[in-house]
Amino acid sequence: MENFIKNLPKAELHLHIEGTFEPELMFEIAKRNNIDIPYASVYELKKAYAFDCLQDFLDIYYQGAEVLLHERDFFDLTFAYLEKCAEQNVRHAEIMFDPQTHTERGVSFETVITGIHKACVVAEKEFGISTLLIMSYLRHLSEEDAFKTLEESLPFKKWITAVGLDSSEKGNPPSKFKRVFEASVAEGYIPLAHAGEEGDADYVWEALDLLHIVRIDHGNNSLQDESLVREIVKRDLALTVCPMSNLALKVVQDLREHPLKKMMSLGMKVTVNSDDPAYFGGQVNQNFMAIQRALDLSKEDLCELARNSFQYSLLDQKTKNSFLSEVENYCAA
Ligand code: ADE
Ligand code: ZN
Repeated sequence: MENFIKNLPKAELHLHIEGTFEPELMFEIAKRNNIDIPYASVYELKKAYAFDCLQDFLDIYYQGAEVLLHERDFFDLTFAYLEKCAEQNVRHAEIMFDPQTHTERGVSFETVITGIHKACVVAEKEFGISTLLIMSYLRHLSEEDAFKTLEESLPFKKWITAVGLDSSEKGNPPSKFKRVFEASVAEGYIPLAHAGEEGDADYVWEALDLLHIVRIDHGNNSLQDESLVREIVKRDLALTVCPMSNLALKVVQDLREHPLKKMMSLGMKVTVNSDDPAYFGGQVNQNFMAIQRALDLSKEDLCELARNSFQYSLLDQKTKNSFLSEVENYCAA
């Protein structure tokens, strides 16, 4: 199974670039930027990666991002992730970035996106990997702040495909961002959002009905409401599920209790993703392996997950078809 997963062509659709920041690279960039990390070593830092909930993780994740200052830092961060994609036969990646995490600290939007974009261009040439960018609004900040970010993004619109909504879910419902999502869609961005990771099914309803999202990040708590499940199936919305993240943030207590297989049996379209691999202990292939083992998934299940990853990507249909035929060839062999 391990080899089957390793060589399976796949797309990663739920991934925060700041969450790919490996401790070794963090220390290297901190050193060259003359910034102190409040941990003595990579080992000490990794020991702090024990979380009881989403907020525990977010506190450390935002702290880690503070060493990123220059275009080169964002380039190195992104390129390191894309090298790992190439090793895992990730053929396409939809990369979320959190501009406000950086602009709040005085790093310009241009610095952030230029570094990320240039790494994508080089990786496309070197590894043949396809990428696109999702600009995520931080939901613990105000809608006004998100509007400011939307404004800042406009000169770089050609590099951005979609908008997302992440950070602390509880207490920050999708309704808080209704207007900025409307404005984002008017600018041509595709709407996506985290919903139902820690928030209840109501938040998923709001994301569907108020933000009109075309894909749901996580979506676990949709299962609380049967009529919501039916609606998600009817609207053909995929869920970007992140098994190791769910375990690390105690969304599930044991991977054997993970709802992924149940979601599939209910007709929901599921994909497997790493979310924040540097913090949760595994890249996308390790997520595939962990969930395969925990739920005893078959090769056919794995092929369906890989198929979904392209089918529910934001690529045009022709490009999707080309990747889908790679999956078909692989899965038929
Ligand atoms: N930002 C990075 N990872 C996240 C997650 N799992 N949920 C919400 N916001 C995030
Ligand atoms: Zn996420």
